[in-house]
Amino acid sequence: MQHAISVNKLTKTYDGGFTALQEVNLDIENGEILALLGPNGAGKTTLISIICGLVTPTTGSVTVRGNDIIRDYRAARQLIGLVPQELYVETFETVWATVNYSRGLFGKKPDPALCEKILRDLSLWDKKDSRILTLSGGMKRRVMIAKALAHEPQILFLDEPTAGVDVELRKEMWQLVRGLRDRGVTIILTTHYIEEAEEIADRVGVINHGRLLLVEEKAELMRKLGRKRLTVALSTPINVLPQMLTRYDLAIEDGGRQLVYSYNTQDERTGIGSLLADLNREGIPVKDLDTEQSSLEDIFVSLVEEAR
Ligand SMILES: Nc1ncnc2c1ncn2[C@@H]1O[C@H](COP(=O)(O)OP(=O)(O)OP(=O)(O)O)[C@@H](O)[C@H]1O
Ligand SMILES: [Mg+2]
Repeated sequence: MQHAISVNKLTKTYDGGFTALQEVNLDIENGEILALLGPNGAGKTTLISIICGLVTPTTGSVTVRGNDIIRDYRAARQLIGLVPQELYVETFETVWATVNYSRGLFGKKPDPALCEKILRDLSLWDKKDSRILTLSGGMKRRVMIAKALAHEPQILFLDEPTAGVDVELRKEMWQLVRGLRDRGVTIILTTHYIEEAEEIADRVGVINHGRLLLVEEKAELMRKLGRKRLTVALSTPINVLPQMLTRYDLAIEDGGRQLVYSYNTQDERTGIGSLLADLNREGIPVKDLDTEQSSLEDIFVSLVEEAR
């Protein structure tokens, strides 16, 4: 079956000579939620902007349901709704006028019932006559989503949809996104947060320095990313590990004053219980414990090293 989006060997070098995307290949399936995970400057917005026809690629190609984004621009763009990272909304207009106008931009007939449904789904109905100027940041972001949905796109891009959105609203946003997916809309969103990708996505693509490092089913990726470090501070320093403890993935650090244990949070048994019991059995007194999630940065570093 035709992919929702197919990105082939896409490279982007901006006018100053900076290469923001390098040979990106990516197929996005119909009806999935794909999260693009990556730090600031990774190339997420550049990728989305190219697919949406806002930035021209340097080399490579992109098709949207088989339509080339340059040759068949109108057909490709018609299928897409975009909620950009930067908020820019016509501040003096009302919510209602803005959303209806967005639909008109795509040459679609007015459909007040649809626009009402979109605003209700986004908890914006009671604000329909408000000027956008008077809304809060979170509300403005929801207006952007309403605008993007007004022409009934089959593919929706959300570039950092939860930036500046409170926890409650974030939950509502995910509910909305799932609802759209259940109605067959393909969704691509960007985020800096592993937790967010974990919460919402079916698949996750990790992007850094313009390269797509991997794209995987969420469950598989979480297994890889789920590593944590347990630091065990010791009351008395040790130089060598007793034989009994060599079966654990342990490192002696800080001149023997601490043991660092790596484990996977996704495993049925993390081994922490038996490690502490064994330390006790060996007569090694524990002063303090501390756990730490592998940071996104650590993960990128290990993924990049693996890729070499
Ligand atoms: N118009 C431009 N001209 C030159 N360089 C640009 C331009 N737009 C983006 N870049 C550079 O390309 C790189 C990727 O930027 P991009 O906005 O795609 O990153 P991002 O992954 O969306 O980051 P963030 O998480 O901060 O939104 C950055 O180094 C950025 O400075
Ligand atoms: Mg961005």
